[in-house]
Amino acid sequence: MDRNTDMFSNLPSSLLIIIASFLPFKEAARTCILSKQWLDIWREVANIDFDESNFVKLDESEENQKVQREVFINFARQFIENNSQQVIETLGLICSRPGNFPVDMQNIVMFATSRNVRGLRLDFSDPAWREDEIMNHEAVFELPSNVYELGQALETLKLFSCRFDASKFTNFSAIKSLSLGWININIGSIVAILESCPLLETLRLKKCWNLEHIEVSKPGLRLQNLVLDKCDFRDEWLFIEGPKFQFFKYSGKVGQFHLENQREMVEAQLDFGMQSEFEEVGVFLYDLLLELFAARILTVCSVFLQIIPSGDEPLGLQAPLNVRNLILKTALHSNEYWGIKFMLRSCPRLEMLTIDIGPARIFPDYEPPYPFDPEKFWSRNFQVELSVTTTLRVVNVKGFKGTRNELYVLRYLLNFGRAMEELNLYVSNEGGDNGENREFYMGRAQQVLGFYKASRNVSMSVL
Ligand SMILES: *[C@@H]1O[C@H](CO)[C@@H](O)[C@H](O)[C@H]1NC(C)=O
Ligand SMILES: *[C@@H]1O[C@H](CO)[C@@H](O)[C@H](O)[C@H]1NC(C)=O
Ligand SMILES: *[C@@H]1O[C@H](CO)[C@@H](O)[C@H](O)[C@H]1NC(C)=O
Repeated sequence: MDRNTDMFSNLPSSLLIIIASFLPFKEAARTCILSKQWLDIWREVANIDFDESNFVKLDESEENQKVQREVFINFARQFIENNSQQVIETLGLICSRPGNFPVDMQNIVMFATSRNVRGLRLDFSDPAWREDEIMNHEAVFELPSNVYELGQALETLKLFSCRFDASKFTNFSAIKSLSLGWININIGSIVAILESCPLLETLRLKKCWNLEHIEVSKPGLRLQNLVLDKCDFRDEWLFIEGPKFQFFKYSGKVGQFHLENQREMVEAQLDFGMQSEFEEVGVFLYDLLLELFAARILTVCSVFLQIIPSGDEPLGLQAPLNVRNLILKTALHSNEYWGIKFMLRSCPRLEMLTIDIGPARIFPDYEPPYPFDPEKFWSRNFQVELSVTTTLRVVNVKGFKGTRNELYVLRYLLNFGRAMEELNLYVSNEGGDNGENREFYMGRAQQVLGFYKASRNVSMSVL
């Protein structure tokens, strides 16, 4: 530390400010202990983060939290009072009780907008709110009106649990990335925002509610990335025409999706963990897959794997997908076997398969497309998929425990994977304080190393 301080002490302050600007705000604040010269430098950083969680400890009493929150607000108050910068790049404010400090909230936001801030993140959501609960919370604060007046420089805007007037978004025409979360919003407001922000490339909606459905069909939009994260739609109906997405992430219930002609899609992530019942709606998922055909990277979840074989083509899509890199978020339960087969068959160009093992929603009333014996499923009863025998080069298993089902699947992939080059087993850290479970899982990994391999050239790692 001392040597570093010496080295820095010859540098002019203007340079130190630039160095500090590259540090996360918390680290930048710590630099003030380095030397006298640094003392004021961190106050001049270009990226400011006022984050309540650095001050308020959620496991302490309400009383303590109240005091800690006062300290937090006081810190922010002093910071902006003493700050003489003309321009700041980004400002983040995370505070779960903004209503107790309306003047400070106003001042902090005013501080940012009056300095031509390009990125503004206001998060007033309560950390105690649960994402997977179907519970709609009213926004706790209103976007200060000076943001509409001074926001012309904004390129990134995030508003969580913060009400706003979509009809005033006309001044935000420079916005490229918008995240809205924990609010009541209707489709009319989304359409108005898309009208007002022609440069918008990324739209993220998280835990938005009262939304009738999603419709994006204005020609000429630049939208490339769409994230719909656990929103509460009145109808799970999604219609997208015109914008050419490159990234699509959906987390919610199974619904009807119409994404016309998404030829430029690079990556899609599908999570249907909010689906609470088993329904034979595989056909909706086929249609979605067919529309995402261009994606090279695809992530699907356990619910997807259970439902996909329930449509008209239980064994795989007629039209092949372009997927090279498939990620299965799975419990490797036998309910998911037909779905895994379905995906291996529908991705004939698959190069990398990641089996990411974790807890999942397993439907007790699951109906397989054909009766089967889970113990024999992965032995050679079926035609082996083309992707497994010819293109699959890398298999990763995350959260490996060496359960019977894991060993069945891995034996299958090694027995028939003629092009396999790499198998990586990332052993689970779960359970056992002294790592004794880990040792046990490592032992089972050794078993995998001994399986017959169709490829002569497989390098295997246990990590
Ligand atoms: C801000 O400036 C005042 C007056 O110069 C000073 O008393 C105070 O300690 C400063 N605040 C911080 C956080 O340094
Ligand atoms: C847009 O910005 C201009 C200039 O700052 C301001 O006069 C006008 O009131 C703003 N519009 C809204 C809707 O706030
Ligand atoms: C063996 O695998 C390596 C990568 O691990 C690859 O570069 C090489 O071409 C492979 N050799 C054969 C004969 O397939």
